[in-house]
Amino acid sequence: MSKLLIQGGRALSGEVTVQGAKNSVLPILAATLLSGETVRVENCPRLRDVDAAIRILQSLGCRTMWQGDTLEVDAAELSQCTIPDALMREMRSSAIFFGAVLARCGEVEFSYPGGCELGPRPIDLHLAGLRQLGAEIEETGGTLRCRAKSLCGQTIPLRIASVGATENLMLAACGAEGVTTIVNAAREPEIVDLQNFLNACGGQVSGAGTSTVTVVGQRLLHGCTYRIMPDRIVAATYLCAVMSAGGETFLRGAREEDLAALTAVLREAGCTVRGDAAGIGCICTQRPRAVAPVCTAPYPGFPTDAQAILMAAMLRSRGATVFEENIFTNRYRHVDELVRMGADIRVFDRTAVVTGTPVLHGTAVCSTDLRGGAALCVAGLSAEGETVVSGIEHIERGYADIAADLRCLGAQIVKT
Ligand code: UD1
Repeated sequence: MSKLLIQGGRALSGEVTVQGAKNSVLPILAATLLSGETVRVENCPRLRDVDAAIRILQSLGCRTMWQGDTLEVDAAELSQCTIPDALMREMRSSAIFFGAVLARCGEVEFSYPGGCELGPRPIDLHLAGLRQLGAEIEETGGTLRCRAKSLCGQTIPLRIASVGATENLMLAACGAEGVTTIVNAAREPEIVDLQNFLNACGGQVSGAGTSTVTVVGQRLLHGCTYRIMPDRIVAATYLCAVMSAGGETFLRGAREEDLAALTAVLREAGCTVRGDAAGIGCICTQRPRAVAPVCTAPYPGFPTDAQAILMAAMLRSRGATVFEENIFTNRYRHVDELVRMGADIRVFDRTAVVTGTPVLHGTAVCSTDLRGGAALCVAGLSAEGETVVSGIEHIERGYADIAADLRCLGAQIVKT
């Protein structure tokens, strides 16, 4: 199995272009199913999760073709409305496909996505919303069969502002008669990207980025060429990398408006962060200062996906910082690995207290999940000696080439 070898302890210096956003491209690939014509998705990151999404599209009858970093999807003729069990298991985000298949075909069959490394990942909100739109859903032995003679627009209040449920219901609502209003919708920038994509294909969606999203249903959308937004969590990772190792870097394409909760913390810790139309520059010249408690929350709050990464950057801080994880139940699995590098972290249920220590030591560590794995790389950049990160298949779900990107920023890191 491949590993990442990091020689830590050297300041970063350089520039990298931030890849397209994983959490934006996955729902947009699902949305291509609503189009009867070819769709060109530009700035499409080559990720394991994108490969899994492409295999789902192909299994449904779509034709796909890469041209550089552009993915063409032709969903003119679908031959299937069942998402294969193996592909459902491969990627938890596969749940994002069933609203679109239902809207396009009037039925969809899939297996329960089940839990994942972050803890239970229920889809009750997705299913309740689809039922409200008129779908009948039967469950037998872990297989869900969802049918609708016709879907009918409704007002759907969400108990939790779930990103996936908001997106899935936006997609299903595109195939519903009349107007659907999602209340207490999630407000993440990726939902705005999905809205922009749907509207570029002739959809009528408004309100994304606020708590109320409205979709005027239409049967079949047309094709378009659409550029995926930059990945704010990848940008967060590289900002935390420079805070961890020190130095001066520029992240081309990163949008500070998507990252305000994180950049506020970086400034509080003593970094200089400047965002403009071209990207975000970050300078860190000394060990970070401890910061006020970092509590994860739905956007525009501090992103749960950046919790592990920021924690890794705070390991050599002066003072103690409290982290509180409020979105997922099992999101401190990286902690044991960071402790093996000399970190002082104590976990009490959903709270973790990080007390900065002057020195971290490189050692062999194993990724437990996507962002936990990225956090090990961030810590390795500031550790003395060599850090060997295994389990990098987790990291490759969301980073097209983290080693190459970090080398652009002056890091000594290779994949073996
Ligand atoms: C998305 C992101 C993921 C991010 C998460 C939170 C994608 C592909 N993934 O995941 O990277 O960490 O948002 O920002 O975009 N919940 C329910 N019932 C449901 C759905 C969700 O109880 O039907 C709960 C979840 O258990 C969790 C919370 O709602 O506690 C938020 O989850 P959600 O926003 O749905 O996350 P995802 O869309 O799965």
